[in-house]
Amino acid sequence: MSKTFRPCHLLAGLASLSATALCANSTLFQGGTIITFDEASQIPVALHGSSLLVTGDSIARIFDSSDNVTIPTGTEIVNVEGKIVSPGFIDTHRHSWQTAYKTLGSNTTLAEYFSRYGEFTQAGTVFGPDDIYYGTLAGLYEPLDAGVTTILEHAHGTFSNETSKAYLNAVMDSGVRMAFCYAFHELGNGFSFEEQLANFANLMKNDRLNSQELVQIGIAYDAFIQDNNNTQAIVDLVNNNNVSALTMHFLGGPWGNTNSPSKLDQLGLMNGTTPIVFSHASYVTTDDAELLRKYDQYISTTPESEMHYGHGHHYNSLIQDQSALGVDTHFTFSTDIIGQARMWLQSTRLRFFYQSLDNWNVPRNSPMSANQAFTLATRSGALAMRRPDLGVLATGNKADVVVFDGDSPNMLGWSDPVAAIILHSHVGDIRHVMVGGEWRKRDGQLVTKQNRTEVQNKFLESAKRIQKIWLETPLPDLQGEFSGLSHVDYVDAYTVDAVRGNGTGY
Ligand SMILES: *[C@@H]1O[C@H](CO)[C@@H](O)[C@H](O)[C@H]1NC(C)=O
Ligand SMILES: *[C@@H]1O[C@H](CO)[C@@H](O)[C@H](O)[C@H]1NC(C)=O
Ligand SMILES: *[C@@H]1O[C@H](CO)[C@@H](O)[C@H](O)[C@H]1NC(C)=O
Ligand SMILES: *[C@@H]1O[C@H](CO)[C@@H](O)[C@H](O)[C@H]1NC(C)=O
Ligand SMILES: *[C@@H]1O[C@H](CO)[C@@H](O)[C@H](O)[C@H]1NC(C)=O
Ligand SMILES: *[C@@H]1O[C@H](CO)[C@@H](O)[C@H](O)[C@H]1NC(C)=O
Ligand SMILES: *[C@@H]1O[C@H](CO)[C@@H](O)[C@H](O)[C@H]1NC(C)=O
Ligand SMILES: *[C@@H]1O[C@H](CO)[C@@H](O)[C@H](O)[C@H]1NC(C)=O
Ligand SMILES: *[C@@H]1O[C@H](CO)[C@@H](O)[C@H](O)[C@H]1NC(C)=O
Ligand SMILES: [Zn+2]
Repeated sequence: MSKTFRPCHLLAGLASLSATALCANSTLFQGGTIITFDEASQIPVALHGSSLLVTGDSIARIFDSSDNVTIPTGTEIVNVEGKIVSPGFIDTHRHSWQTAYKTLGSNTTLAEYFSRYGEFTQAGTVFGPDDIYYGTLAGLYEPLDAGVTTILEHAHGTFSNETSKAYLNAVMDSGVRMAFCYAFHELGNGFSFEEQLANFANLMKNDRLNSQELVQIGIAYDAFIQDNNNTQAIVDLVNNNNVSALTMHFLGGPWGNTNSPSKLDQLGLMNGTTPIVFSHASYVTTDDAELLRKYDQYISTTPESEMHYGHGHHYNSLIQDQSALGVDTHFTFSTDIIGQARMWLQSTRLRFFYQSLDNWNVPRNSPMSANQAFTLATRSGALAMRRPDLGVLATGNKADVVVFDGDSPNMLGWSDPVAAIILHSHVGDIRHVMVGGEWRKRDGQLVTKQNRTEVQNKFLESAKRIQKIWLETPLPDLQGEFSGLSHVDYVDAYTVDAVRGNGTGY
């Protein structure tokens, strides 16, 4: 089947009854504040007293009351007076299969994560297809509820043919828009690299995948630093397939793991047709930054993850013109992109305020604006994925739309809708969410194709089994040299305590 979009009314005839219920082929968001983007000034612009018409999966028109616009008969009218209509938020780095670990990593570190929770641990044998399916599906309800409409998934729960298929099915069942970047890795569980290549080729031919357009396949690979046959196979795969994205973890500094723009440039990948997203880039160099600009490739900054685990925010705040935002391991912290944008805004301000304060000077201006944080959370994510039809509410773009109530106790009194969202909103203010013209949240309630009670029950069953195994597994003893990716010594971090006594207080 071709990848051509089929309007809802055609799909409804073919598919199940539930598809009909989810289809809103023509919807009018009437009379609210709509956040658009002005390409000339490069800033978000608010249109008050305006309406947005969605037909099929796209935005047909944005107009105000003085315009004479013919509304198609049968259009569903949603009154958005007093509300804020925003583009959907974009998460450019996530591992959605890990939901079952929720709260286990509350005080974990990156070094501990590698040996306890990551893809190279017992996860590769313990997580079966049902664990991956229900973990991913339950995990994706959260971003949809929070107005995240597009995700670039670093999909490293690819532990076998069966888990990969379950993973992809969960993503397609969720209704989120996604670049599903299949991770290739040298696992210890017997799923060989050759089998992964065969599995990938097989998934690319998946009929269900090819009959829809929300989910597209990409590639994730973290071992470009190894000049071996696997790396060559990945380079060939990227060059020979028109995949939606290529992504990798890139840290540098004491972490090593220099899957950097410089490395990818040596491999001839930077100037290809595939968008590349380098996650974290905490220790990005000036050379790397120039390569990102030259070839218009992006980094994904995951603010909370980089603080929680200790990746660091060393240099990534200096390349924000080629940055988007991401969440990373959603089992450890908040998963809404607005929360990430707020944290990034305030931590960036602090970083640059210190430059003045450290010299006993007083800054007279603020280093970063709410508009910039909003842009990173929306348009920049779209550009990172080379999807200019996302991240901005404009005629012809995809109808990925989020509506905020403007009158909750926390939002009441706003005049600047961007500041209201970035600095005052929470997930509870999100009234409606639409992805490609279809409802994902309506009147404050998630709209799912599944029976959520059943998904929840299946997920909890799986999570209970998994949490028991992890809680019974001793924590790794991190002594001597951090030998994962670079060769540096472990040290004790300074700890603080909220009560007086002998310290630690865990
Ligand atoms: C919406 O669906 C109806 C039938 O379900 C169809 O008649 C109409 O043309 C569709 N409109 C658009 C804009 O797709
Ligand atoms: C609005 O447009 C319709 C259809 O094009 C036209 O018939 C009508 O006269 C217009 N109304 C005004 C007030 O311009
Ligand atoms: C995290 O907290 C647990 C207790 O909840 C403690 O046993 C463990 O040592 C802590 N781990 C780290 C890495 O601090
Ligand atoms: C996994 O799928 C590939 C591609 O279809 C196939 O070649 C391989 O034999 C499968 N492996 C197993 C263990 O079924
Ligand atoms: C790498 O590929 C070359 C050429 O295809 C082959 O001769 C060699 O055996 C391969 N090496 C490994 C370790 O697989
Ligand atoms: C690659 O895929 C995109 C999106 O599906 C499409 O627009 C583009 O034409 C394709 N490019 C090639 C060279 O096939
Ligand atoms: C990238 O490749 C294109 C097409 O091959 C070429 O026209 C362009 O000059 C290259 N850009 C850079 C910065 O090398
Ligand atoms: C959803 O599943 C639960 C548990 O199996 C069941 O009690 C409930 O009736 C189902 N709801 C719908 C709408 O089918
Ligand atoms: C603190 O450490 C001392 C010496 O090891 C011990 O006697 C005391 O009981 C500890 N106090 C608390 C509150 O744990
Ligand atoms: Zn990650």
